[in-house]
Amino acid sequence: MKILKWIGYALLTILLLATAFYIKAYVSTENRLSKKYNYTLQPFEVKTDSAIVAEGHRILKTKGCKSCHGEDLAGKVWLDDAMLGRIVTPNLTKGKGGLPKDYSTHDWLRSLKHGLKRDSTPLRIMPSHEISHLGEEDMNALIAYLSQLQPVDHELPETSLGVLAYVLTDLDQILLIPADSIDHSRPLTKGVSREVSVKFGEYLSANCSGCHRKNMKGGPPLAPGFPVVADISSTGNPGKWSEEQFINTLKTGTTPEGKKLKAEEMPWIAFKNYNETEMKALYLFLKSM
Ligand code: HEC
Ligand code: HEC
Repeated sequence: MKILKWIGYALLTILLLATAFYIKAYVSTENRLSKKYNYTLQPFEVKTDSAIVAEGHRILKTKGCKSCHGEDLAGKVWLDDAMLGRIVTPNLTKGKGGLPKDYSTHDWLRSLKHGLKRDSTPLRIMPSHEISHLGEEDMNALIAYLSQLQPVDHELPETSLGVLAYVLTDLDQILLIPADSIDHSRPLTKGVSREVSVKFGEYLSANCSGCHRKNMKGGPPLAPGFPVVADISSTGNPGKWSEEQFINTLKTGTTPEGKKLKAEEMPWIAFKNYNETEMKALYLFLKSM
C-alpha cells in the first residue's frame, strides 16, 4: 500500500509541474501577443495597371497565400486540432466578414511587411517574415492585386490557440509570432534586377529559408509530425541535379530520384508559378551555397 501511495504522490507532482509549466507558457505567450511593436511604416504609393495586377497575382501564387487564405482568398479555418487549437485565416476581400472597407496601402504594408495588426500587436502564424523581403516593385504588384479583389461574403470564427500551441511556442518549436523575426526599421529593397543571377536567386530564397534555413542545409522538422527538412544546398540532392531536373522538380513535385513531395510539407504547388528566370536564378543560388 505504501508503494501505491508514493506512486500517487509522484503522479500528483508530475501533474502539478506540468500545470505550472503550461501556466508559464500561457502567460508568457499571451504577453508576447499583446505587445505593441515599434515600426517605421515607409511612405508607399501603389501604382497599378492590368499588367501590374496580373504580375501581383502570379507573385501571390508563388507565396502560397491561397493554401492558407483559401482559393478565393476569403479565409478559412486553416487548422482545427484538439491540442493545437483553431487557427483561422482572415477573409482578405472586402466582403462581409472581410477586411474593413478603408483597409489601405499602409494597412497592407503593416500586415505583409511587419506582420502586425492595426493596433501594432503581432499577427499569429502569418509568414510576414518571408513576405517582408519582397522588393518595392513586387510588393507594389502584390498590393495592387490584393486591393482589387472582388468582395466575397464569408464570415469566420475567431482563432483560439490550444494548449500545445502555447507550450510549443514557449519551447521555440513553432513560429507563432513571425513579427519577432523581422527588422522593423529596414525599408523595402529597391531595384531588384530580375535576371538569372545568384543575387536574384538569393532574393527569391526568402521563400525557402523559413524551412530550409538560411544556409539551405535544412534541419530538424518544423513541427511535430513533419518530415526532416532536406539539404538543398550544393551538398544535398539538388547539387547533383541538372538545371532542367531542378525546374522539373519544382513544376511537378517529383524529384529525379522519384520522391513525390507532399504539397502540405513542401509547397511546390506554389513554386510551380515561378517563371523560367526565377527558377534558373534559384538553381544558381542553391548551387553556390
Ligand atoms: C501559413 C499560412 C499563411 C500564409 C501562407 C499566408 N497567411 Fe496571411 N494570415 C495567416 C493567418 C493565420 C492570419 C491571421 C493572423 C491572426 O489572426 O493573428 C493571417 C493574416 C493576414 C493578414 C491580416 C489581415 C488583417 O486582419 O489585418 C493579411 C493582410 C494577410 N494575412 C495576407 C496574406 C498574403 C497576401 C499572403 C501571401 C503573400 C499570406 N497572407 C500568406 C496565415 C497565412
Ligand atoms: C513549408 C516548408 C518548406 C518550404 C517553404 C520550402 N520547402 Fe523544400 N522541402 C521541405 C521539406 C519538409 C522537404 C523534405 C520533404 C520530404 O522529405 O518528403 C523539402 C524538400 C525539398 C526538395 C527535395 C530535396 C530532395 O533531396 O529530394 C527541394 C528541391 C526543395 N525542397 C526545394 C525548395 C525550394 C527551392 C524552396 C523555396 C522556393 C523550398 N523548397 C521551400 C519544406 C519546405
